[in-house]
Amino acid sequence: MKLWGGRFKKSESKLMEDFNSSLSFDRALYREDITGSMAHVKMLAKCNILSSEERDSILNGLQSILSDIETGKLKIEGDYEDIHSFVESNLLDRIGQVAKKLHTSRSRNDQVALDFRLYAKNKAKEVIENIEELQNTMKKLGAENNFIMPGYTHLQRAQVVTFKHHIMAYYNMLERDKRRIRNAREILDESPLGCCALAGTTYDIDRNFTAEELGFKKPVSNFLDGVSDRDYALELLSDFSIMMMHFSRLSEELILWSSKEFGFVTIDDEFSTGSSIMPQKKNPDAAELIRGKTGRVYGDLMSLLTTMKGIPLAYNKDMQEDKEQFFDSVKTVLSCTKIMNGMLSTLKVNQDKTLKAVKTGFLNATEAADYLVNKGMAFRDAHKVIGEIVLYCEEKEKSIEELSIPELQKFSNLFEEDVYDFIDYNNSINRGIKKELKQ
Ligand code: ARG
Repeated sequence: MKLWGGRFKKSESKLMEDFNSSLSFDRALYREDITGSMAHVKMLAKCNILSSEERDSILNGLQSILSDIETGKLKIEGDYEDIHSFVESNLLDRIGQVAKKLHTSRSRNDQVALDFRLYAKNKAKEVIENIEELQNTMKKLGAENNFIMPGYTHLQRAQVVTFKHHIMAYYNMLERDKRRIRNAREILDESPLGCCALAGTTYDIDRNFTAEELGFKKPVSNFLDGVSDRDYALELLSDFSIMMMHFSRLSEELILWSSKEFGFVTIDDEFSTGSSIMPQKKNPDAAELIRGKTGRVYGDLMSLLTTMKGIPLAYNKDMQEDKEQFFDSVKTVLSCTKIMNGMLSTLKVNQDKTLKAVKTGFLNATEAADYLVNKGMAFRDAHKVIGEIVLYCEEKEKSIEELSIPELQKFSNLFEEDVYDFIDYNNSINRGIKKELKQ
């Protein structure tokens, strides 16, 4: 069944019908579509536009469609233009002519805007819940591995940090990601139902009722905006892109750290794969896939931004292209969050390797300079002195703490026995990172 056709002399070409159909992907919106229709019908009856018998008959029909889809009895397929046509056709088959009253005072433009907002709201919540689970795993992983490791800048050993500190950096990024998504969810929390095609309706409807019934804060303030707006999808896609960028950086570190060259972590067999030719290989595919899938999410954002940039108000069919990218990103973000959670909850951190790396990277050079500053030397001068000591150590293949006091005094007579305590790696952690706000 088509939802239009009265003014046409010829029927649509099959080519066009296929090109135009969105059922293969907007089927994902069936629950939102049916719930939205139910709220709409209740409102129409409340406003005396439908009788209570008509309302009940439509509600029962919609409920039976919903149950049959959920139990798998009714498959969402066939030559329908979209999910809206699918539901309405099925309703007509089930309850007869009264089904035709469902679309009173509604357009597919506000219908699809509603479905999409409801979907975005639900999925944003699901993403937030998954982020929280991952954050709990990170917290646990940090607490269990609160020992020293090298911190890097330019991927060169820089200063000593702890594994906990490193992983909690990502925890904090995710905290902001969560806040961004929560904020986007808050902004989108307005119902577009009742905007109709673009200009509202002449029926005396109650948009507050449907907004409340569907769990929105309020109805949108402007009809044209209500049916034209896809900002919320763009905002969530931006938030997802930033979140994936964070995941990608963490993935990159896990890939590096799990290499023989670093050996800081071992990714569990459950989240690794092998090579078809090299029997010894264990590859960090989970992390690589997350890093790779980041590109898809960026692409989805770019694609929708580009789709939206030149279209006049209000609805244009271009906007049907809003869904696949968004669905794809939601699916990607959810699966990556779960995989990251699985990978981190089974990750083994190799303390012996991180400790060895700490000891061979002059990671206490900054502290050694601070030592001289405490003894009265200007920082710039101290920096130069320690630089010379590092050069000397490299030639002798020694670390700073392995030099004797007479050796150190060749560079500055401010060095005394207490230097060893001062530049001890654990002591510098206590003076630095431990002062941080507790998490
Ligand atoms: N399938 C359409 C979409 O996803 C539904 C809205 C159609 N509206 C219209 N005026 N043709 O955007």
